[in-house]
Amino acid sequence: MKDLGLAPTGVLRIEWAEKEMPVLALIRERFAKERPLEGVRIGACLHVTTETAGLMRTLAAGGAEMALCASNPLSTQDDVAAALVAEYGISTFAIKGEDRDTYYRHMQSVIDTLPQITMDDGADVVGLLHSERSDAAPGVIGGTEETTTGVIRLKSMEQEGVLRYPIVAVNEAMTKHMFDNRYGTGQSTLDGIIRATNRLIASKIVVVVGYGWCGRGVAMRAKGHGADVVVLEVDPLRALEAAMDGFRVMTMEQAAPIGDIFVTATGNIHVIRGEHFAAMKDGAIVANTGHFNVEIDIPALEGLASSRRQVREYVEEFTLSDGRNVYLLAEGRLINLSAAEGHPSAVMDMSFANQALAAEYMVKNATKLEKRVYDVPDDIDTEIARLKLASMGADIDTLTAEQVEYLASWSMGT
Ligand SMILES: NC(=O)c1ccc[n+]([C@@H]2O[C@H](COP(=O)([O-])OP(=O)(O)OC[C@H]3O[C@@H](n4cnc5c(N)ncnc54)[C@H](O)[C@@H]3O)[C@@H](O)[C@H]2O)c1
Repeated sequence: MKDLGLAPTGVLRIEWAEKEMPVLALIRERFAKERPLEGVRIGACLHVTTETAGLMRTLAAGGAEMALCASNPLSTQDDVAAALVAEYGISTFAIKGEDRDTYYRHMQSVIDTLPQITMDDGADVVGLLHSERSDAAPGVIGGTEETTTGVIRLKSMEQEGVLRYPIVAVNEAMTKHMFDNRYGTGQSTLDGIIRATNRLIASKIVVVVGYGWCGRGVAMRAKGHGADVVVLEVDPLRALEAAMDGFRVMTMEQAAPIGDIFVTATGNIHVIRGEHFAAMKDGAIVANTGHFNVEIDIPALEGLASSRRQVREYVEEFTLSDGRNVYLLAEGRLINLSAAEGHPSAVMDMSFANQALAAEYMVKNATKLEKRVYDVPDDIDTEIARLKLASMGADIDTLTAEQVEYLASWSMGT
């Protein structure tokens, strides 16, 4: 990690985050009593943030032997990495801004601990275990995956018949993607853009590319700031939903010349390309909040630019041959985790409650599972929602016996 001296600040920030993670705290209490992960080696590749520290502490309380590396070179919080090592005794390999070689070397260090469970955010560790580090794969009994992009990659491995062990797709839990991807990414993406640029959002044309869980959140929060939001989609149903939610829907070709701020949230490759940069107005800002920085064709932007310079910490100015400037934020990496602090802990509480319970589920059930990608069991999802509501002091009704009977019956009418 960068500097052990940062640990005290990291501890304070972790404690602050954990104040909004009551569900994870309950799980940690139970784990400490029951020790369901006793002696299990878990190799985690997650964004090294305050919330992840809460998860690491929970898994360690359950008896797991943890090793952690970053799932993105820019998302590490160095004080958290220091606190994990110095205060909580968790092996952590991550430095904010690490280069590509260091990033992969850190992942190798986690694999060197010979994990029995992998915990990925983007399937990078699984990818290595299925290629150059296949030597370490036989000892893995199962894994979990945090994000949409990772789940897509794992499902394609399953379909090709190459997946070597079962995975629980944490992203597919309702208590994960409905809240983390939508409200977490929505708020923190705007936060990242604002921290990076200090630009006013009100009155700007904000172009949101992709109207999935993340895109919906970004569009909703940009609208809340007073932006004129344009949504781009390839799925007609989602495009229709965006239109009915009150957003203008168009193509990238139509949006490129009018947008002030572009945010990609598709999980796809090159959704903003050379021809789009060439059409953008002077001062256009381009950011990505999808998992990988391939959503924006950065080499095409570099090819079009006659010069480039760093004008603020996360803002790079590309000057095109006719003098127009296009600004790329955070090298096209997830803006919310690069320029801001990622999702607020209140939503990560549910995402990481899913991770902790999925790890426990995997330890109990791995031998019975096939080499497939599994959803989080419904009872886990429902229990997390119940605990979260309880922690918010919200009670809900239960069905009466008459209602249960009515819903099960096909013969009762008006
Ligand atoms: N920034 C974060 O902290 C964070 C959090 C969660 C997920 N993610 C990542 O964000 C990405 C999106 O996740 P999601 O859960 O919203 O996925 P999703 O599948 O719900 O939505 C993606 C949407 O993008 C659309 N799309 C695909 N290609 C497109 C194109 N060329 N033009 C326009 N639209 C296109 C799809 O039709 C879909 O509606 C993934 O990479 C995911 O891993 C990031």
